[in-house]
Amino acid sequence: MTTAPQPPKETRSFQSILVTGGAGFIGSHVIRRLLRTHPNTKVVNLDALTYAGNLANLKDVEDHAHLHFVKGDIQDRALLDKLFEAHGFDAVLHLAAESHVDRSIDEPLAFLETNILGTAALLHAAKESWTRRGCMETALFYHVSTDEVYGSLGQEGLFSETTAYDPRSPYSASKASSDHVVRAYHHTYGLPTVISNCSNNYGSHQFPEKLIPLMIRNIVDGRPLPIYGEGINIRDWLWVEDHAAAMDVILQRGWVGDTYNIGGLNEWRNIDLVHKLIDLVDSRLGRTKGHSLGLITFVKDRAGHDMRYAIDASHLASRLGWKPSVTFEEGLSHTVDWYLENASWMEEVTSGDYQQYYAKHYDKR
Ligand code: NAD
Ligand code: TYD
Repeated sequence: MTTAPQPPKETRSFQSILVTGGAGFIGSHVIRRLLRTHPNTKVVNLDALTYAGNLANLKDVEDHAHLHFVKGDIQDRALLDKLFEAHGFDAVLHLAAESHVDRSIDEPLAFLETNILGTAALLHAAKESWTRRGCMETALFYHVSTDEVYGSLGQEGLFSETTAYDPRSPYSASKASSDHVVRAYHHTYGLPTVISNCSNNYGSHQFPEKLIPLMIRNIVDGRPLPIYGEGINIRDWLWVEDHAAAMDVILQRGWVGDTYNIGGLNEWRNIDLVHKLIDLVDSRLGRTKGHSLGLITFVKDRAGHDMRYAIDASHLASRLGWKPSVTFEEGLSHTVDWYLENASWMEEVTSGDYQQYYAKHYDKR
């Protein structure tokens, strides 16, 4: 039905956006940004508040007149229909997902359910609502995805939008499947969709099961720093605020049917990044240089551990003019400061079931 990606006739603005997963790490940054850059738009945050979702991430905007929170599951089709009816969404910014690779190895089905079936339920609700309301021409379904769908790189090369999908973990397989379902709704039903695939994000409010906040927390507390395998795997890190800025540009000017890779050309071996974090945290805490180096502990490797991710973001740069705004030094320094200044946030998000997860996950390694 559809042909090549098409540019919007003009910069889009929306009356009412459904953001899913807005209480999570990236979602909370995006919501804060949307409230700032789209002052006349209603933003509805649908989030199931899993272990990774925390309303503390949105504390500074919780009373904003244009922000509404709904606790619910994206797989709940009756709820989705009700929300589309009540709020008349003309855009969906879909971030809700199970997002941690290690958990996907332990509990793959939860990932397949939320990430594939949940995305399908949202697509269906949008198609039904926008067909009924005759607004397929102006609406937008924006699906937020990951570079992990492309698989694992060797020492050379970058992922581009035309790289063949080759997911290796249950997480990346579930995200790859959801990308395919999004494209199927676009090509079959003419649903106006756009997809972005981003590299590893870092910044404030990230749940401390992911590498950077986990290491910062453990350096502060003097706990072992678990490095999987030899620590030579490479990730391409992007500051979360730059990801949020890219998403905003894509929402406003992204071409319908297009895909955008987002990344900062910022590759680090895990072990080198951990050394950098040790230097930063130790110096902030007035410790002598190298104080925490002895905490580094090489542990059993992750099953199927992808060796290297690296993104070619030139399509996004040339088509929509986005580029990262900060250097890694600036972003990481800001990030470390935030975690050191927000010990109560760390305490709050790690006080529940996470303690059992942490003990079980790291004790068996
Ligand atoms: P996160 O785990 O911090 O947040 C996910 C949010 O989704 C949480 O608030 C959680 O409560 C909510 N959620 C989970 N299951 C749900 C369900 N069934 N119904 C409703 N809400 C549900 O994840 P994140 O790191 O903020 O990632 C957000 C999105 O960006 C994900 O789609 C992820 O695949 C993608 N992404 C993340 C990264 C990264 O580095 N973190 C990189 C590229 C893409
Ligand atoms: P992670 O933050 O889980 O992101 P992803 O797996 O989606 O890239 O992990 C980033 C890298 O850090 C990855 O190569 C695995 C590694 N890692 C460790 O070495 N130790 C840890 O405790 C964690 C959580 C990750």
